[in-house]
Amino acid sequence: MIQYFDNYSLLSHNTFGIDVKATRFIEYDTEEDLYELIRTNQITLPYLHIGGGSNLLFVNNFEGTILHSRINTIRIVEENDNDVLVKVGSGVVWDDFVAHCVANKWYGAENLSNIPGEVGASAVQNIGAYGVEVKDIIHSVETVNIKGEQKTYLRNNCQYAYRYSIFKEPEMKDVIVTSVCFRLNKKESYKLDYGTIRAELSGFPETSLKNVRQAIFNIRGSKLPDPAIQGNAGSFFMNPIVNKQKLITLQKDYPEIPFYELGADEIKIPAGWLIEKSGWKGKSIGPAKVHDKQALVLVNTGKASGKDIIALSDAIRTSVKEQFGIEIKPEVYIITNVPM
Ligand code: EPU
Repeated sequence: MIQYFDNYSLLSHNTFGIDVKATRFIEYDTEEDLYELIRTNQITLPYLHIGGGSNLLFVNNFEGTILHSRINTIRIVEENDNDVLVKVGSGVVWDDFVAHCVANKWYGAENLSNIPGEVGASAVQNIGAYGVEVKDIIHSVETVNIKGEQKTYLRNNCQYAYRYSIFKEPEMKDVIVTSVCFRLNKKESYKLDYGTIRAELSGFPETSLKNVRQAIFNIRGSKLPDPAIQGNAGSFFMNPIVNKQKLITLQKDYPEIPFYELGADEIKIPAGWLIEKSGWKGKSIGPAKVHDKQALVLVNTGKASGKDIIALSDAIRTSVKEQFGIEIKPEVYIITNVPM
């Protein structure tokens, strides 16, 4: 089924809780529905395809068409004693899929528990948390472009990197993800080395998929605000990547600076730490606030507009640049299809 809505409020389609409208909003249930929309030229410019709206910041009303997939199938494609290949529709809620994996004793997705959003966007954004990125379990990504041409991208052709894939490139703008194939392990295996996972798990009687999932829920719950209670889009900024020389310079003034080595000369610095050190943790500008427990997250304390959130983001970026000489960039996708 295809549903059309005109002059439609996007409030329930963005976790920041920004009250803007789209001229047109179209939701479709199946791949065939999407082909029908393409065939009948309903996908006209400007348009934007959204997922769960958990990584978006709308700055204005969207004067165009917003598309949303509700393709919600989960189907086993291949299975043997070691692993399973499962094809998942773009509109499946990400955490419902993780719950499905845990219920079926498929290993690999559990560290990504409780991340808001949907399966299609997970493959675009390469979502990551607690030592796992979704690319680690992706086998391939099935797409169609707005001319109706289908293409499957094997994982190695997706150019996956930290919060990045080929699908973020401007020339891929007209490519829509329809489903994602994941390969999951049927043999017991865990990734428990990131942060406080082991410490959290020590409170459980045993290490099991269910308990790892619950431990991740507990850790996230202690730091990240629930968007159902307080509007937010998770990490607002990406963690910046600097070279070794820059790290050495920073360590002279801040010997305690946390960092992760990505490659020989690529060091990831937690933006949350930079923001906290520049004094912004818990601070507000109007209705936009830096979360008290994780400075990487900006929250909407009431009726913030996209512009309110951007004013806070700009002030933070200026402080971090002045104090550390590092540019931090939004991870959240800022949407301004009309001049700000
Ligand atoms: N830190 C601070 N102050 C803060 C926040 C963090 O000092 O206010 C320090 C922590 O003490 C720690 C380090 O920064 O030493 C890293 O913190 P954390 O483990 O919370 O992770 P992060 O780098 O801040 C990233 C992801 C999160 C993901 C966590 C856990 C990005 C942009 N964010 O945050 O992803 O949940 O790791 O793996 O990479 C999201 O993308 O929306 C998101 C929440």
